[in-house]
Amino acid sequence: MKIGSYTLSSPVYVAPMAGVTDAPFRKMAREFGAGLACTEMISSEALVRRHRESFRLMDLGWDQRPVSVQLMGGDPGVMAEAAKIAEAAGADIVDINMGCPVPKVVKTSGGSSLLRDPDRACRVSEAMVGAVAVPVTVKIRIGWDAGTRNYLEMATRLEATGIQGLAVHGRTRAQRYDPSADWVAIAQVRAAVAIPVAGSGDLRTADDSVRRIRESGVDAVMLGRGILGNLWLVRQTVARLTTGEVIPDLSWTEQIALIRRHADLVLDYYGAERGPRLLRKFIAWGLRGFRGAARLRTMVQSVSSPSDVAEVLERALMIDPGSRLSDPECEAA
Ligand SMILES: Cc1cc2nc3c(=O)[nH]c(=O)nc-3n(C[C@H](O)[C@H](O)[C@H](O)COP(=O)(O)O)c2cc1C
Repeated sequence: MKIGSYTLSSPVYVAPMAGVTDAPFRKMAREFGAGLACTEMISSEALVRRHRESFRLMDLGWDQRPVSVQLMGGDPGVMAEAAKIAEAAGADIVDINMGCPVPKVVKTSGGSSLLRDPDRACRVSEAMVGAVAVPVTVKIRIGWDAGTRNYLEMATRLEATGIQGLAVHGRTRAQRYDPSADWVAIAQVRAAVAIPVAGSGDLRTADDSVRRIRESGVDAVMLGRGILGNLWLVRQTVARLTTGEVIPDLSWTEQIALIRRHADLVLDYYGAERGPRLLRKFIAWGLRGFRGAARLRTMVQSVSSPSDVAEVLERALMIDPGSRLSDPECEAA
């Protein structure tokens, strides 16, 4: 599939996830075959004010190409300016966040609040398309709440502004992350526009992606919470969708090796001071769902140096965790 002039190596995207899809995470996902990765959302206001942390979020030095930078905001002029900054920083694609449900973001008329104001959403999109030479894409939810499921209006009007791709998270803003994603709505968007559409919501196994593509016709799947602690799902999904190969889950030892690789990248990228703290949640997610790993996860919460990280992973290798439980929430200590 293509976004603008870029041919993607697979129809598997890494969903933008704030606090998750940083440079090390994107690097691993692309090594496992993801066709496209996106930065965490970056505030357009902070970017035009040249906040250093926003520029760090947009550091693309470790990325395989193409890579997408996601911008958030509701002011057409500021968003256009931010898009130019992202393009100058090396973004191959600029994505607009029209789904973030967080009140702080909604108050600034960015994120999902644009779903309540399609005119403004189109002005933002038009301004950005006009400002940069790289493709602009948009990620939407299916509406603000049950009473305003305006995904077809949003998709067709945004397409007319010149965007070159759309991702649809099949929940309303009011639903946040809880009830099942509505893939019928995603299929309707696919049928209503000519640009490539990626579907997002509840993709937990490679089979989920195969079924959703078959039923909805989307051009790509976007993996979200399913890859937290399980980046191997990227590899499994890419294989199923490209060659049909069924790749088994990782053994415990292989899972620990994957966490170790991620930890090495994080320590390398952020350094020994900041890296270990950032790693806590990633290691805890990686150990989730295995019988006997609960005690280790408690230990992970106090990891504060590279040697702490090494010790947790050494200890992990010494336990017999059994196989991964299908529902991580049912983990027995
Ligand atoms: C921790 C977390 C952070 C997220 N951050 C963003 C973000 O920055 N931009 C965005 O468009 N979506 C964000 N999302 C939404 C995901 O991209 C995705 O659409 C959503 O999680 C639905 O997919 P899932 O049910 O497979 O998790 C985030 C989701 C999670 C869980």
